[in-house]
Amino acid sequence: MSIGSLLDGPVFLRDLSREPIVIDRADGVYLYGEDGRAYLDAAAGAAVASVGHGRTELADVLRAQATRVAYAHPGAFITRPTIELAEKMIARAPAGFSRVFFTSGGSESVEAGIKLARQVHLAHGRAERIKVVSRRTSYHGATLGALAVTDQAERTAPFTALMRIEPKIAPCYPYRCTWCHADRRCTLECADDLARVVEAEGAAQIAAFIAEPIVGSSAPGAAAEPAYWRRVRAICDEHDIVFIADEVMSGNGRSGTWWAMQQADVLPDLIATAKGTGAGYASLGALLVSDEMFDAFRARRDDFRHGHTYSGHPVAAAIGSRVIDIIEREGLLQRVQTMGVHLLQRLHETFDDHPHVGDIRGAGLLAGVEFVADRANRNPFPSAAGVRARVRQACLDRGLYIYPGGGSAGALGGDHALLAPPFVIDEAQIDALVRTLREGLDAALADVL
Ligand SMILES: Cc1ncc(COP(=O)(O)O)c(C=O)c1O
Repeated sequence: MSIGSLLDGPVFLRDLSREPIVIDRADGVYLYGEDGRAYLDAAAGAAVASVGHGRTELADVLRAQATRVAYAHPGAFITRPTIELAEKMIARAPAGFSRVFFTSGGSESVEAGIKLARQVHLAHGRAERIKVVSRRTSYHGATLGALAVTDQAERTAPFTALMRIEPKIAPCYPYRCTWCHADRRCTLECADDLARVVEAEGAAQIAAFIAEPIVGSSAPGAAAEPAYWRRVRAICDEHDIVFIADEVMSGNGRSGTWWAMQQADVLPDLIATAKGTGAGYASLGALLVSDEMFDAFRARRDDFRHGHTYSGHPVAAAIGSRVIDIIEREGLLQRVQTMGVHLLQRLHETFDDHPHVGDIRGAGLLAGVEFVADRANRNPFPSAAGVRARVRQACLDRGLYIYPGGGSAGALGGDHALLAPPFVIDEAQIDALVRTLREGLDAALADVL
């Protein structure tokens, strides 16, 4: 075993400000550190480990497929697991979807969506369609195309000079919305903002609109009602704009249905996904493509000018396929629904009277708790207070891992915790999660206030 600080070791760590915890093994909803401690994984990493950790069944699938064929280049070949996974995903996709383009992660899926939208427009003589509209307070990925449609200053700021920043509209975010009714009912002005921006930018230049049906890391748990998506769909239809639903976090059952858009009963043109697709056992993502999009593409072209070396990887695909089987065999979609209700209920019971919790929201097992300095005016804590890092650390000290984030208050910053536990979590574990979060928050704030 190595000694000394990992900060001085060969791994280029993402966070050079603190010693990372070395995880040795994992099982169910727990990660176990080399320090001998157990950590309740309240975020399934980052909405990844949906079916829980330590599934030997998935390890067996990995071994079997790797032994049979681990790799064949997707430019020339395809393997059975890839075909089978696509069939399974399409059987569970919203009606009207018929193709799956595989990737290795969420950013790749978003990039694939943007590039497909562009190529469809090009194929139909709409070369001037070059802009992709997205929403403020959003995260769509770390690569430059996906980052250009992201609105989270702390992630984009160093790179804005490298990108053409795409047009942004208001998010559907009742807690910080100036249009909403006093009781936070949506007026749909935020959806109409799409029409305004499209007009201002020039509809003939807009290739696509991308949005998260349930917001992930930038304002976790913020979800819009079906009427919002109907309005968005109508605006996209009116102007020939490709509608990309970013279900990298909300997809693969996390909303309680396979896709969050199924609950809105509105069909996007493309669904970008990842995370739960491989459930942490494989780097796997996908772009689901509607019939209409695919037909529009195929009518004029037979080569998608995009692809990655690991696209459709057989081992990853075999894992993705078995993850779907497990979710169905164990009734996990239903479980997400009941546990999601329990989680929100416990969060409300525990934090509704908390002077520094401004908002609690969520859908399925994708929830957010937003921390504020002042509940009356909803002002966030100053960034210098480092609230989210303190809360994360205080929770880790108590054996709880939460996914901390920022930017929910836009330019003002903001701090929140994203909660997205594995679907196998039970009620007692949720109770412990929420109890520990309260203890962690109070301990962290005691140092700040
Ligand atoms: C909504 C959303 N889109 C895209 C991404 C990027 O996914 P990845 O980190 O797998 O590239 C993320 C990651 O957090 C996400 O939450």
